[in-house]
Amino acid sequence: MNAMEFTHKSVLLDECIDALKIRPDGVYVDGTLGRAGHSREIAQRLTTGRLLCIDRDMAAIDAAKERLAPWMDRVTLIHGNFSELGDALQEAGIAGADGMLFDLGVSSPQLDDASRGFSYMQDAPLDMRMDLTAPLTAREVVNAWSYEELRRILFEYGEERYAPAIAKAIVRRREIAPIETTLELVDIIKSAMPPAALREKQHPAKRSFQAIRIAVNGELDALPPMLSAAVEHLNPGGRLAVITFHSLEDRIVKRAMQDLSRGCTCPPAFPVCVCGKKPKVKVLTRKPIVSGEAELEENPRARSAKLRVAEKCDPFDL
Ligand SMILES: C[S@@+](CC[C@H](N)C(=O)[O-])C[C@H]1O[C@@H](n2cnc3c(N)ncnc32)[C@H](O)[C@@H]1O
Repeated sequence: MNAMEFTHKSVLLDECIDALKIRPDGVYVDGTLGRAGHSREIAQRLTTGRLLCIDRDMAAIDAAKERLAPWMDRVTLIHGNFSELGDALQEAGIAGADGMLFDLGVSSPQLDDASRGFSYMQDAPLDMRMDLTAPLTAREVVNAWSYEELRRILFEYGEERYAPAIAKAIVRRREIAPIETTLELVDIIKSAMPPAALREKQHPAKRSFQAIRIAVNGELDALPPMLSAAVEHLNPGGRLAVITFHSLEDRIVKRAMQDLSRGCTCPPAFPVCVCGKKPKVKVLTRKPIVSGEAELEENPRARSAKLRVAEKCDPFDL
């Protein structure tokens, strides 16, 4: 057994398995395979059912061949972006699924592998791509994006209070020479922050690294196409479960589920409905499900996790 296998603790594992209401003959999608923690639990509950696993990181696909080896007769692995979910389902010959899970963000093995450039603790070339075949790297973002763009992403995606000062420091430094490594970037970020901010419990570069990672991977842009394709391809009664780790992601998921759960949008003054719009899903989590004390003690990463679940409506019941 390889040591990397267990470096990712699956978040809200029991809650996701409950939410998906897995049937042994059902068809399921894990759109964020990672180290296959959730996929293993799904795969072992299937008999004649199928599980389609997607990840944009080839390392996840390779690791899953070993992790999911006992169940490969019912598992299909696809290297790709879940924003192209419709194509992945078609490629796998799946017309409709009974449950889909998306556990967003990065996996611990991605953070732990210093060479990937996600970590502000270890020196590496500025990369941060989940998909090593994608064209945009952190090096490009840091060295080529304008001051305004850098400030915007640091502020919006990182909720970084010192976004203007950090963006200015990056632009000033790159005028001397290109910024090449993670620890060089950490020094620049720290140089733009007041001493009190450097003494805070959280690492001073944490928010900026998160922001750059979200930008490099287009993490927010991938959500709307994934959410609408997921709902479109769920069978009636099928469940969609999404775990987010960032308030912007959670807002996108919450609003999409709310919008899809709304029926008629005619003005109240209309005597009869003319829009004909029917709800596509029922939201099962008015408030998101969060981790309990036991999980939080074991896995600090679970602290910001929020699970939202919706169920596909049966058009004949409406
Ligand atoms: C938090 S981890 C998933 C962990 C997994 N549930 C487990 O239990 O091991 C997120 C994974 O999703 C992948 N990922 C993130 N965004 C993606 C996207 N748009 N398309 C496909 N995979 C994505 C990442 O590469 C990473 O491996």
